[in-house]
Amino acid sequence: MKHTSPVILFLTVSISLLAISASGDHDQFIYTGFTGSNLTLDGAAKITATGLLGLTNDSFRIKGHASHPAPLRFRKSPNGTVQSFSVSFVFGILSSFGDIRGHGFAFFIAPSNDFSTAFPIQFLGLLNDINNGSSTNQLFAIELDTIRNDEFGDIDNNHVGIDINSLNSVRSSYAGFYNDNNGALTNVSLIGDKPMQVWVEYDGNATQIDVTLAPLGIGRPKRPLLSVVHNLSTVLTDQAYLGFSSSTGLSTGHHYVLGWSFGLNIPAPIIDPTKLPKLPNLSPRPQSKLLEIVLPIASAIFVLAIGVAIVLLVRRHLRYKEVREDWEVEYGPHRFAYKDLFDATKGFKNKNLVGTGGFGRVYKGVLPNSRLEVAIKRVSYESKQGIKEFVAEVVSIGHLQHRNVVKLLGYCRRKGELLLVYDYMANGSLDKYLYRQEGKPTLNWGQRFQIIKDIASGLLYLHEEWDKVVIHRDVKASNVLLDKQLNGRLGDFGLARLYDHGTDPQTTHVVGTIGYLAPELVHRGKATTLTDVFSFGIFILEVTCGQKPIKEDSQGRQLILVDWVLQNCHKGSLLDTVDIKIQGNYDIGEACLVLKLGLMCSHPFPNVRPNVRQVMQYLDGDVPLPELKPEHFSFDMLALIQKQNEGYDPSAMSLYPSPMMTSFGSTSSFSLEGR
Ligand SMILES: Nc1ncnc2c1ncn2[C@@H]1O[C@H](COP(=O)(O)OP(=O)(O)OP(=O)(O)O)[C@@H](O)[C@H]1O
Ligand SMILES: *[C@@H]1O[C@H](CO)[C@@H](O)[C@H](O)[C@H]1NC(C)=O
Ligand SMILES: *[C@@H]1O[C@H](CO)[C@@H](O)[C@H](O)[C@H]1NC(C)=O
Ligand SMILES: *[C@@H]1O[C@H](CO)[C@@H](O)[C@H](O)[C@H]1NC(C)=O
Ligand SMILES: *[C@@H]1O[C@H](CO)[C@@H](O)[C@H](O)[C@H]1NC(C)=O
Ligand SMILES: *[C@@H]1O[C@H](CO)[C@@H](O)[C@H](O)[C@H]1NC(C)=O
Ligand SMILES: *[C@@H]1O[C@H](CO)[C@@H](O)[C@H](O)[C@H]1NC(C)=O
Ligand SMILES: *[C@@H]1O[C@H](CO)[C@@H](O)[C@H](O)[C@H]1NC(C)=O
Repeated sequence: MKHTSPVILFLTVSISLLAISASGDHDQFIYTGFTGSNLTLDGAAKITATGLLGLTNDSFRIKGHASHPAPLRFRKSPNGTVQSFSVSFVFGILSSFGDIRGHGFAFFIAPSNDFSTAFPIQFLGLLNDINNGSSTNQLFAIELDTIRNDEFGDIDNNHVGIDINSLNSVRSSYAGFYNDNNGALTNVSLIGDKPMQVWVEYDGNATQIDVTLAPLGIGRPKRPLLSVVHNLSTVLTDQAYLGFSSSTGLSTGHHYVLGWSFGLNIPAPIIDPTKLPKLPNLSPRPQSKLLEIVLPIASAIFVLAIGVAIVLLVRRHLRYKEVREDWEVEYGPHRFAYKDLFDATKGFKNKNLVGTGGFGRVYKGVLPNSRLEVAIKRVSYESKQGIKEFVAEVVSIGHLQHRNVVKLLGYCRRKGELLLVYDYMANGSLDKYLYRQEGKPTLNWGQRFQIIKDIASGLLYLHEEWDKVVIHRDVKASNVLLDKQLNGRLGDFGLARLYDHGTDPQTTHVVGTIGYLAPELVHRGKATTLTDVFSFGIFILEVTCGQKPIKEDSQGRQLILVDWVLQNCHKGSLLDTVDIKIQGNYDIGEACLVLKLGLMCSHPFPNVRPNVRQVMQYLDGDVPLPELKPEHFSFDMLALIQKQNEGYDPSAMSLYPSPMMTSFGSTSSFSLEGR
C-alpha cells in the first residue's frame, strides 16, 4: 500500500474498516474507525467526519447508543451454553469544561438495541429505576464510570466495573493496569486526551470474565484488571446485540469510540493503533508550558508598557503645557508651540544660554521646521492682569520690520512665564565689544560710527516711520545687537510701550536702566521720544568713549560719563575722551560731531535735545551741528527750568552729581527745538 495513490488508499482503508467473517462456530468483526460503517445509532450518537463514534455531546441529560447492526448468536444451539468471546475497543472520554466530568459509558451485550425506556445520567442509558437489578434484563456490561454514585455502590469517580443486569457492579476496580514487569497497579484517568483500550474476554468453559484496561499503544497487559467467574449462559440470550451506551446529566462529557473488534470462539482481531482516527482537541486547549510562561510575562510587559506610555504622555503634557486663552486666537500666527521652542533649544540647555538680562534668560535655538536661528527670551510673568495688553503689544511689535531693528517673531505663554522669540543676532550685543568681554575684539572707529548711525536709523523708524509711535524706553549698549555683518540693530522691546500717534503718552512706572534715564523721566515717570533721545545720547558717548555711563573710580566715587565729557569739552580737550582702545585711529570730525551730539541729546532739559530726525541729519552731515556754547550748560539754567516748570524737582537730576550741575548754561536762546 506504500505506493498506492491517496484515493486508492482511502478506498482501501474505508473497505477495511469492517471486516466480518463468519464461518461455522466462530464469528468476528473489526472497526478501525467508523467511516462508512453500518452501526445502528440512536440519541446523540453519531459518526464524526474523522470517523470517530461519538456517543454524547454537550447537551444535558441525553443518551446515545451505537450497536453492531445485527445481533450475534452466542450459543451454538438455543439450549447450549454461551460460547467464549473476546471484545476489544479503543475509547476516549473528553471533558469540554476542564475538570468537570460527565457520567461514563458502557460496553453492553443485550437482547435488544432499543434503550428508549432506559434513563440517562447515572443509569448510563442502560437501565431505569424499575428494571435495575432484574434478571429479566439479560444484560452484560462493562462500565467505565467517571462519577461516583453511592446508590450503585460506586467505589470512586474513575472506575471500571462488570455489570450483570444491574448498575451495581459484580466486580469493580479503580481504573489502571498491572505493569507486566513488576506487577504494580498503575492508575490511569479515564478522562483525558489520550485514547485507552479495553479488552473483555469470556471463557465459556470456565465461565470466567477478564477485563483489562491500558493506555492505547502499550499493548495488552498480561494480568487483567478485573477477573470474575460468572456463568453468562444464565444471563445472555441466544441472540444478542453488542454495542455502546452513554448518557449525560447536569455534567457533560464527550465519549468517543475509535475502534472496536469482536471474536466469538476466537480472539478479537488486533486493532492497529496507527490507523485509528484522532481524538478532537476540545477547548479548553491544553496550553503549552511555553505559553503558560510567556503569556503572563507578555501581559505584564504589555501592562507595564501602557503604564509607561501613560506616564510619558502625562509628563510630555506637563512638560509642553502652555497657557492659551480665547482672546489669543487672532494672534495664532505669532504664537509658537512650547514644544517647538523646547526642541529648538534642546530643552533650554545651559549650552544654549546666550545671556541673562534683567528680566530673564536668553537662549539660542534652531526652530525645528524652518531651521531658522532664533533667540528665545524667557520672562517670568506672574500677573494675569495686563497680559492681554502685553501680548497685543508683542504681536504689534512683531509687525515692525527694519534693518536696524531686531525682528520679534512671536511669543508663547506658559503658566507664570512668557517666551519671546527674536531673530538670532550672530554677533551678540554691542557692550561685549566695547568692554572686550568673552574674547570679542574691539571695534574700530568706522564700525562704531556705522553702528551709531544704524541705531539712530532704527530709532527714527520706531519714533516716526511706523504707523504708531514706539518708545523704546531702554536704549543702551546691551540692547544693541550685531548681526552677521556687524550691522547695529535695536533689540529688546520687552519693556517698550506703544502709543498711538497723537494721543498723550500715558504715565506709567519708570522703566529703563540707571545711567540712561532722562531726569524728567525719573521725576515724572513720563516716557517720551525725547527720553529715548536722552538714552541715545548717553549711548553714543558710551560707544565713542568706550566707558560705562556711570562707573566708580578707585576711591569709590561715582564718575559720570556725561560730566567727564562736558568737563573736557569746556577745557577744550574733547578728543581726549575718545576710547583709547581705538589708538587714535579715528576721523576727528566724526568723533567731535558724535561727542557734541551726545552731550546735546543727553541735555537735562528735554527741549534742548534734538529729535531723532535731526540727529540723523547731523550724523549724515546734511545739517551742521549748532555750535555748543559753554553758557548753554551754565548755572542759571537750572533756576530757569525751575521757574518755567513749577514743581520740577532738581533732585530728579541727582543722577548728575553737583559739579556737573553747576556747569549747566543758562541761555534759553540755545534751543534746538525743531519739531
Ligand atoms: N536676538 C538676540 N540674538 C542673539 N543674542 C541675543 C539676542 N537677544 C539677546 N541676546 C543676548 O542675551 C543677552 C541678554 O539679553 P537681554 O535683552 O535679556 O538682557 P539685557 O539687554 O542685558 O538686559 P535687560 O533685560 O535689562 O534689557 C544679551 O546681552 C545678548 O548677548
Ligand atoms: C446533542 O444530541 C442531541 C440528540 O440527542 C441533539 O438534540 C442536540 O442538538 C445535540 N447537541 C449538540 C450540541 O450537538
Ligand atoms: C445495515 O444494517 C441493516 C440492519 O440494521 C441492514 O438491513 C442493512 O442491509 C445493512 N447494510 C449494510 C451495508 O451492511
Ligand atoms: C431445549 O429445552 C427445551 C426445554 O427447556 C425443550 O423443550 C427443547 O426441545 C430443547 N431443544 C433442543 C434443541 O434440545
Ligand atoms: C439496583 O439494583 C441492585 C440490585 O442488583 C440494588 O441493590 C440497587 O439498590 C438498585 N439501585 C437502584 C438505584 O435502583
Ligand atoms: C490509585 O487510585 C486509588 C483510588 O483513587 C488510590 O487509592 C491509590 O492510592 C492510587 N494509586 C496510586 C499508585 O496512585
Ligand atoms: C472447552 O471444553 C471442551 C471439552 O469440554 C474443549 O473441547 C474445548 O476446547 C474447551 N474450550 C476452551 C476454550 O478451553
Ligand atoms: C452454566 O449454566 C448452564 C445453564 O444453566 C449449564 O448448563 C452449565 O453447566 C453451566 N456451566 C458451568 C461451568 O457451571
